[in-house]
Amino acid sequence: MKKHNFNAGPSILPREVIEDTAKAILDFNGSGLSLMEISHRAKDFQPVVDEAVALFKELLNIPEGYSVLFLGGGASLEFCMVPFNFLEKKAAYLNTGVWAKKAMKEAKAFGEVVEVASSAESTYTYIPKDYTVPADADYFHITTNNTIYGTELKEDLNVNVPMIADMSSDIFSRPIDVSKYICIYGGAQKNLAPSGVTFVIVKNDALGKVSRYIPTMLNYQTHIDSGSMFNTPPVVPIYAALQTLRWIKAQGGVKEMERRATEKADMLYAEIDRNKMFVGTAAKEDRSRMNICFVMAPEYKELEADFMKFATERGMVGIKGHRSVGGFRASCYNAMPKESVQALIDCMQEFEKLH
Ligand SMILES: Cc1ncc(COP(=O)(O)O)c(C=O)c1O
Repeated sequence: MKKHNFNAGPSILPREVIEDTAKAILDFNGSGLSLMEISHRAKDFQPVVDEAVALFKELLNIPEGYSVLFLGGGASLEFCMVPFNFLEKKAAYLNTGVWAKKAMKEAKAFGEVVEVASSAESTYTYIPKDYTVPADADYFHITTNNTIYGTELKEDLNVNVPMIADMSSDIFSRPIDVSKYICIYGGAQKNLAPSGVTFVIVKNDALGKVSRYIPTMLNYQTHIDSGSMFNTPPVVPIYAALQTLRWIKAQGGVKEMERRATEKADMLYAEIDRNKMFVGTAAKEDRSRMNICFVMAPEYKELEADFMKFATERGMVGIKGHRSVGGFRASCYNAMPKESVQALIDCMQEFEKLH
């Protein structure tokens, strides 16, 4: 039976990316060695990193003066590296969910943290809009897509201080104006690669402004100076990321990814809104195109486990909502084909007919 992979992360990757990476794992560039057993300093591997960096810059239209890094530690380590490198006195954070809160917690160890607004009181079902960012903040931190709650900032904000964004779960799903940010980071395990590599886009001249000592491995400058090769980088995930970047380019770039994401999300939200058995949980204007969250309508609440079984029997994988919110979450990342979204919609319609 065909599986439809709605996992929230690690998650679906383009088939070609998996096949090309599998081939390189067996034989990297005809060298007779596996990608897993070559040195990251091998002369054949440097071009992989160079091309991945170049494609990042090309696809996201990154201006001059920014570096692209491939690191370890996940987005969670960035929660601490960001304030270590950028927070001198005060930073502003928008609290839109668990990940934003975790980022804020780390920042508190380095200086004053202003929570400009929060939607915690409504279990993060919307993104706050009315708030003021203190003009003297070193940066304003946002989480552009809230993977757990299915809310998304689908456009770059206009604020009076430089922004820093966790884009773990929506990078490469729309064009972004990188010049508004001094740092953009994320775990790669949604739209880019298997887990194990963290991408960081950093504005070079925003560094060097904090007075504290920054441990070598936590200092972005270390990784800029060594081209992400200060220590052994995650070779296999970087190789897979390159294949995904090539795939995105071949498909038509981030504008095309955005068109597809919008089309898929519109299809599924239309069914959630039409079908009497389901209700969307996120505020309509903030609905995520990447993580589509819904629950059973109150009168059908007791059928949640039945629908899960029904959908699983029809090949749906990973649609269980995050343990902290329950219900369902269909993650529709870049590699998710429209056909899989349609298969889930068919499932919801068949289930409705039975009740
Ligand atoms: C928006 C967001 N930020 C941060 C994280 C944490 O990422 P990592 O597991 O790479 O530390 C996740 C993981 O799902 C996420 O969705």
